[in-house]
Amino acid sequence: MQLGIPRERREGERRVAATPDTVRQLMGMGLEVLVETGAGDGAGHADAAYRAAGAAVVPQLDLASLDILAHVRPLDPRTAASLARGAVTVGLASPSSELPTVQALADNAVTSFALELVPRISRAQSMDALTSQALVAGYRCVLEAAIRLPRFFPLYMTAAGTVPPARVLVLGAGVAGLQAIGTAKRLGARVFANDIRPASADEVASMGGTFIRLDLETAEAAGGYARQLSSDAGTRQRQLLAPHVAQSDVLITTAAVPGRPAPLLVTRGMVEGMRPGSVVVDLAAESGGNVEGSVAGQDIPIPTADGTGHIILVGLKDPASAMASDASRLYAKNVANLLALLVRDGKSTLDFDDDVVAGACLTHAGDVRHQPTADLLAARTAAAPMAGPEGAR
Ligand SMILES: NC(=O)c1ccc[n+]([C@@H]2O[C@H](COP(=O)([O-])OP(=O)(O)OC[C@H]3O[C@@H](n4cnc5c(N)ncnc54)[C@H](O)[C@@H]3O)[C@@H](O)[C@H]2O)c1
Repeated sequence: MQLGIPRERREGERRVAATPDTVRQLMGMGLEVLVETGAGDGAGHADAAYRAAGAAVVPQLDLASLDILAHVRPLDPRTAASLARGAVTVGLASPSSELPTVQALADNAVTSFALELVPRISRAQSMDALTSQALVAGYRCVLEAAIRLPRFFPLYMTAAGTVPPARVLVLGAGVAGLQAIGTAKRLGARVFANDIRPASADEVASMGGTFIRLDLETAEAAGGYARQLSSDAGTRQRQLLAPHVAQSDVLITTAAVPGRPAPLLVTRGMVEGMRPGSVVVDLAAESGGNVEGSVAGQDIPIPTADGTGHIILVGLKDPASAMASDASRLYAKNVANLLALLVRDGKSTLDFDDDVVAGACLTHAGDVRHQPTADLLAARTAAAPMAGPEGAR
């Protein structure tokens, strides 16, 4: 069976779905691996390294002849429609925001696996790309803050005087938030954090952070995820967080609620209350933003309330892609480990009795198997204007 690795087309995307290391692993499964020219350039893997690992490097993948396509970013509808019927895809799919692609995959009877849907159970941890990429993002956002902060992170006691450590506040202590806490701590900052899941207090402490307890309902849903706070509770959370935000040199926000836009945790007024030179990094900027006014890919200077300076509001974009080498190393392993469940001795073995295979499957044999996505598609179809002459009027 032929497995294709494309050069990612999305602007700014530098990651790749296979590394020379995983090419060897994939070939050990009996797969023939085709890598598009330049696919690994952004992640530091030259074509020659793929060839040396045993892959064939081709100027362009012939989508219609592939048995499997492994990718990083969600496919576009045209690519989905160009694949052979019955082909298998593995990669990030963002099902709820890429409905036309999901429809094209289903229409083309492609069996697609979305890495976002891999169940978060122990057995599937090695395939969990949300975790591996959040780890990279959590690390990166602290470095982005550190290079913009006109201060040290650690305490320095020197002959010229003592420099106090920076104070870092992390809101949202999931995978990315915990990595941010650990990274800021390793850089020597004093780190504080808040989350609305009760379990997060111990997790924050285990990374060396101090948990900020707010007099607020906890909000945990199934699977260890957060649920959305009521509007009143959200307002109260912002009020209670305001003094902590004001005392921080660095604020990092990573809060998310599955299937919803990112919750607003920090208003413009709260940012204006910080000291001049402070830095805010919004990791959720691409999914709606935890901080009012953040824009993905932009640094925005916000004047302080007292008019004495500015705070820099960073809307982080593609943080994992900015660390494409290690992000790809982990991502490619996630892909190869999932493929190991789907392929044996060069033959496809789709066992839908396996929880991981069934859970990660987005489309198969013309059906959208992920029910929430199927519901969204049905709602979209019902809401679409009639295509006939009457609808067009
Ligand atoms: N294989 C596994 O078992 C596995 C792997 C990874 C994560 N997990 C668990 O999954 C859960 C979610 O992790 P994630 O990183 O994907 O989360 P996520 O990206 O969905 O959300 C990030 C964090 O934001 C928090 N949050 C949401 N609304 C908030 C608010 N209003 N204020 C403050 N914080 C808010 C969430 O509680 C979460 O900790 C965690 O319990 C994690 O331990 C399990």
